[in-house]
Amino acid sequence: MKLPQGIESILIDKDTIQNRIKELASVIDENYKNITEPLIVIGLLKGSFIFMSDLVKEMLTPLQVDFMIASSYGDSMENTEVTIIKDIETHISGRDVLIVEDIIDTGITLTKIESILATRNPKSMKICTLLNKPSRRTKVVTIDYNGFDIEDHFVGGMGLDYAQKYRNLPYIGVVSNEK
Ligand code: IMP
Ligand code: MG
Repeated sequence: MKLPQGIESILIDKDTIQNRIKELASVIDENYKNITEPLIVIGLLKGSFIFMSDLVKEMLTPLQVDFMIASSYGDSMENTEVTIIKDIETHISGRDVLIVEDIIDTGITLTKIESILATRNPKSMKICTLLNKPSRRTKVVTIDYNGFDIEDHFVGGMGLDYAQKYRNLPYIGVVSNEK
């Protein structure tokens, strides 16, 4: 297959990803089979948009969707600030919430978002991520549903970008011109 410029190899191919998403959807459905009100699925933009749409298409659990945009900036890993640029519009008090991420790297973004959403008293809050890079973790994060553990590569595709490129690739590729 011809790879776009800047992608050196395919780390996880399209079929492997789609099969794993089906498996995740069926495990998630099983865990919410006694739900009384629709599950609130919250995608963290932009990165989660493709994974979340593929995932919810495979799910049978009654659900609604909402989105959040968070931005991280700071002069070091330890001093990273996470700001909410776009909040959800849904009231989550007393409701079951599933947060969907593209990748959990240091865990800083997710830890901050979890603590913000926890103050709104959801009935339950679980985390689903397509990719997990455990080697770079600085915060303790409990991942309830994980697509794939990956080594410390910078990757693009399935919603993930490098300088806003590669989000549309239907596979996970290793970015060659790392920062
Ligand atoms: P964390 O706060 O370090 O866990 O940051 C996670 C965010 O960093 C993800 O939602 C991605 O937006 C971005 N990120 C981390 N690793 C990669 C990567 O390999 N490719 C693309 N984006 C990444
Ligand atoms: Mg992201």
